[in-house]
Order: sequence, then C-alpha cells, then structure tokens
Amino acid sequence: MAKQDESGQLHIRAIIYDLDGVLVSTDEYHFRAWKRLADEEGIPFDRTINERLRGVSRMESLSIILERSTRKYSREEQRQLAERKNGYYVDSLSDLGPEAILPGARETVDAVHLLGLKQAVASSSKNAPRILEQTGLSELFDSAVDGSMISHSKPDPEVFLKAAEALSTEPGGCVVVEDAVSGIQAAKAAGMLSFAVASAARADEERQDGDNPVGAWKRAPDLSDNALVKAVEPFVHIPQNR
Ligand code: BG6
Ligand code: MG
Repeated sequence: MAKQDESGQLHIRAIIYDLDGVLVSTDEYHFRAWKRLADEEGIPFDRTINERLRGVSRMESLSIILERSTRKYSREEQRQLAERKNGYYVDSLSDLGPEAILPGARETVDAVHLLGLKQAVASSSKNAPRILEQTGLSELFDSAVDGSMISHSKPDPEVFLKAAEALSTEPGGCVVVEDAVSGIQAAKAAGMLSFAVASAARADEERQDGDNPVGAWKRAPDLSDNALVKAVEPFVHIPQNR
C-alpha cells in the first residue's frame, strides 16, 4: 500500500519512470521492428496486438505475436526471430538523440529534482542503457534498472522493487510513471502508486468502471503541462534544499 501517516496523508519520496513510451518515443520503434518481422513471416500483427507488448520482455512479446502464426517455431527458431527483431530495432536506434524525448519529459525530470524527490528509470528493455546514453537522459537519474537486471518483466513487480531498493525508498513512497497496462499492474503489485500516460491513460479511462479496471492513481495524456508535478506536489513533505 502507498505510504500514509496516521492522518492518512500520503508521503511521496521517489518517482520511478518507465522508459519506452514514457520518456522516449522508442515504443514506436519497437512496433516498427516487430511489424517488419511479422510481415516477413506472414504473421498478422497490428497496433491493437502491439498494445499487449508494452512493458513485456522481448521473448514474451514474441510469444504474443506467434499466437497468430499458422506454423510452429522451434525454440531455436524463436531465439533467432527475437534476435532478428532486435537487430531491426537496434538499427533504428543508430540516429536516436535528444529529439526522441517525449513532450514534457525532460522538464518533468528537472522539476521533480527541484522538489527534492529521488528518481529512477525502470525498464524491461535490455537496450535501456544505450537509449538513456544517446538521449542524454542517463545522468539525470539516481538509478536505472533495465531488462538485463531482472528475471521477470512487467506485470511482475520485480523491476520496480529493484528500483525502489536502489533508491533506498520504501515501495509505498514511490510513484511509477507508465504507458503500459502491464506496468500499472506491476506498480500495484509492488505496492506503489501509478501515474498513467498515453496508452495506459486511455485504457485507464475506458476501463475505470468496468470488470477489469486498470486502476491508476492519476492519469494524463503525457508529461507536458507539469502534469506529474502537479499530481505529486501536495504529497511531498521533504526539505527542498537536500
Ligand atoms: C519494454 C517495451 O520497455 O522493453 C517492450 O515496452 C519491449 O515493448 C521490452 O519488448 C524489451 O525490450 P528489448 O529492447 O530488451 O527487446
Ligand atoms: Mg513503456
């Protein structure tokens, strides 16, 4: 559960950001690389199916795509398919730079720092370190956990719990920022609050009263207009001059 004092007041101490689709537009590059692979293999794949790939690991993403395949792929063939997709994806990252940072992301990280909160990136992607370096975001965070450091990807809470540990912050004091429904579920499983953006915000709005509510704490289309800072500021109770 999120951290509250005796009066029920929340105490927010850290922000944990997903990377692809939250800070950087690389979610679109993932889609294009998978689409190319699926087209080459004659497997139906579109943006609706792609929503299920958000936040999940490379091999789990491949399994979802192969649900629509008419033929079976051996374990070795699956490994080769995943490697091929990663090759397409990594090629598309060659020119990646700060222009790929999503609206409001950089300003949010700067503003959150001024609030005195700790900040981490927690991504299922093994390519996260490279993306953080190329976009110049790397140095802005106190810690980063990526796909090579975890055994279970979202909706498992592992990546967020590792990030909280690296920040020496209890899960209940963390807010996770996510574009993936699997990421919101992972945050919930970790006992953290979640701030849904983009795709997860749309799903949260559509399913808020349904049988399967996404259940984000707050949501916004993206990080522009100081949306995250406005949401967390009332719950920050730490000295500003750390
Ligand atoms: C996540 C993306 O951040 O990383 C997923 O949302 C992706 O779509 C996953 O499958 C793994 O990425 P990579 O770079 O290790 O293949
Ligand atoms: Mg994402």
